[in-house]
Amino acid sequence: MSAQIIDGKVISQAVRDEVAQEVEELKAAAVEPCLAVMLVGEDAASKVYVGMKEKKCAEVGIKAIDQRLPADTSQEEILSIIDSWNEDPSIHGILVQLPLPDHVDEKTVMERIRPEKDADGFHPVNVGRLASGDPNAFRPCTPAGVQVMLKHIGYDPAGKHAVIVGRSNIVGRPMAAILSQKAPWANATVTMAHSRSEDLGAITRSADLLIVAVGWPNAVTAEMVSEGTVVIDVGVNRVDDDSRERGYRLVGDVAYDEIAEKASWITPVPGGVGPMTIAMLLKNTVVAARRLAGLA
Ligand code: GUN
Repeated sequence: MSAQIIDGKVISQAVRDEVAQEVEELKAAAVEPCLAVMLVGEDAASKVYVGMKEKKCAEVGIKAIDQRLPADTSQEEILSIIDSWNEDPSIHGILVQLPLPDHVDEKTVMERIRPEKDADGFHPVNVGRLASGDPNAFRPCTPAGVQVMLKHIGYDPAGKHAVIVGRSNIVGRPMAAILSQKAPWANATVTMAHSRSEDLGAITRSADLLIVAVGWPNAVTAEMVSEGTVVIDVGVNRVDDDSRERGYRLVGDVAYDEIAEKASWITPVPGGVGPMTIAMLLKNTVVAARRLAGLA
């Protein structure tokens, strides 16, 4: 079998078109959706991500507030900016780019964001709501985007064995919560595997749907995948490549070429899950704006 490609660029464009329409409707009701974004420090990848998020906000008509802070900014200062954003009625979504510098406690910062403005879905209130099956919880953008991709290709995970490799709070855990919900485009039998799982290959070979988010290249190879599996690669890794002007190329967490021979569907890297994350951030921001304005 040769896999069909799940095109994140096309699917995310469809989501962004929908969001742009919703933004117009909000503006007609005198609400200008606004996302406040904080980046602390000089992490090169984070700068690229934040720049992309702000650019995509502008494209759909969402106002973005860009707050860049030096790496030695105190936790107190960060919390006081979040407090002012929490209070500001013109701000509907708040995003603090992770990772934060070592002297800042991420948990304390995440917990300071008002759950109603939590565009990332990382606040424990939203994590708890999602875990308890509340359909109105803000969902972390990457796993929410994966579910939209499955819907777009018409792959219903209901009753299927979904294996998630990785247990991060950003992807693995919320992905398991989303796919195990008693809800449309969910109802999967979910296994969450990780770096300490014994005989990972036996687990991944039993997957109908395999979602990989571990953070290093070739974490899953062809012999770990059964024929016909739907493979979602959440990884984005830089590998040295002298043939590229910038000296590296981006690859995912799975051995793409060999797995594409066996999978039924597969996401490429780049151009797969990546663009979905930002599209879902825009969606969350519009939902927050609508709710805070009392229009939903
Ligand atoms: N760092 C890596 N992914 C994310 C994300 O989705 N949101 C935030 N805030 N930081 C991240």
